[in-house]
Amino acid sequence: MHRGKGMKFVGDSRIPAERKPNIPKDYSEYPGKTEAFWPNFLLKEWMVGSVFLVGYLCLTIAHPSPLERVADPTDTGYLPLPDWYFLFLYQLLKYTYASGPYNVIGGFIIPGLAFGGLMLAPFIDRGPKRRPTQRPFATGFMLLSFASVVYLTWESVDAVDWEAKEAMGAIVEEAEIDTNSDGFKIYQENGCINCHGDTLSGGAAAPSLIGTGLTPEEIANIAKNGQGGMPAGMYKGNDEDLVKLSEFISTLEAK
Ligand code: HEC
Repeated sequence: MHRGKGMKFVGDSRIPAERKPNIPKDYSEYPGKTEAFWPNFLLKEWMVGSVFLVGYLCLTIAHPSPLERVADPTDTGYLPLPDWYFLFLYQLLKYTYASGPYNVIGGFIIPGLAFGGLMLAPFIDRGPKRRPTQRPFATGFMLLSFASVVYLTWESVDAVDWEAKEAMGAIVEEAEIDTNSDGFKIYQENGCINCHGDTLSGGAAAPSLIGTGLTPEEIANIAKNGQGGMPAGMYKGNDEDLVKLSEFISTLEAK
């Protein structure tokens, strides 16, 4: 084998200047240093594999994935957000000359130049030097992109109201609602629907009315006299209907 002194490399890299077929030595040349793939080596691999598997399982149990409720394309109150590793591209689209009529710049040209440059780097940067200090352009661009990605991600994260975001995607309890029942009609006629929503699961303006644990009398009282952020006098009908409405709401249970 050609190695050690006298061997010529490309630049200061580890690539030999003369191309030689890379034929590995026979195992017999490493007495006492070889190991059977089956079962010895594979057993070790499997052991490491199971440690990782169990580790990941523990992690997923300790930190369940932050799932939100089922996506609803008609829900205009929900603002979707890309995953964290795309936030910098998302942020780019918020700047004047990269959004609106200039969407092409923010969506294609800037990311295209950045990723295209990365792809072309091996062809552009053909110098023999390897130390970062001896490659000012490559190092400079790398630091510049790194700083931009960190800055844009930071700006994007900073602009989000994370509590509101969590509330937006929260999994709401839903109940089987009979929209033909008298109770629902009274609910609708009195405008409760405007705040508590058509599924009674609440929204930005009011809490959910499903599984409140309130008695019909308490609900009737709130409907007439309000409570906290809910103004009084919301219920405008007669007492008979109020009983129907209160009973209807008190029976709602989460599915
Ligand atoms: C203007 C919006 C609005 C309308 C209309 C409205 N509510 Fe409310 N409702 C609220 C808000 C806000 C709350 C939370 C009050 C608080 O701060 O405790 C609430 C709370 C309630 C509660 C108590 C829920 C709980 O778990 O404590 C009930 C019951 C209720 N509303 C019933 C009704 C009924 C019945 C109607 C129709 C007659 C109605 N609401 C109409 C805004 C509204």
